[in-house]
Amino acid sequence: MITQEEMRKRIQELGLRIAQDYQEKDLLMIGVLKGAFVFFFRLGAGRSPFRSMLISWSFQVMVKRKKAAGRSRLSRISHKISKGKDVLVVEDIVDSGLTLTFLKKKLMARKPKSLRFCTLLDKPQRRKTEVTIDYVGFTIPNKYVVGYGLDYENKYRNLPYIAVLENVREDA
Ligand code: IMP
Ligand code: MG
Repeated sequence: MITQEEMRKRIQELGLRIAQDYQEKDLLMIGVLKGAFVFFFRLGAGRSPFRSMLISWSFQVMVKRKKAAGRSRLSRISHKISKGKDVLVVEDIVDSGLTLTFLKKKLMARKPKSLRFCTLLDKPQRRKTEVTIDYVGFTIPNKYVVGYGLDYENKYRNLPYIAVLENVREDA
């Protein structure tokens, strides 16, 4: 669905925008694992726009564990240091929007200075709750996709592009 080259270009653009928006801020990027690990790394590491922000840039990760009914549980550590920071959450994909809504509630309780969301992929057709996403890589149709960190049963995360997986049981 999305080639390696398209990903590279778009992530570069996003990184540039984010770096500009947060230039004078105390940015804390939080990558939501496991799915966002490739995107998160590419956004923040190496020859990225954040090079000029190496001193002020900080990051954290939190691990999302799938529970029944789309509820996710987060690792504890992640919440400790967000107080007073300009927090940007980095997600792999927003589908129903339930995870994002849940994260927002959890993180707001930690009193960040500001809170925004960034996602590599947005699949708006299946929304169950209204969400605001500040930075979107690609808006995609209602297909099950894998690659670039996204999985099906923990597989396909290492594909260097985004591919559609047919005949998926989504509750698996
Ligand atoms: P939401 O709470 O429905 O927005 O769920 C988002 C989570 O579901 C993501 O973080 C993914 O882990 C998973 N997910 C949703 N759609 C896909 C997909 O097309 N491929 C892989 N994972 C997906
Ligand atoms: Mg998953």
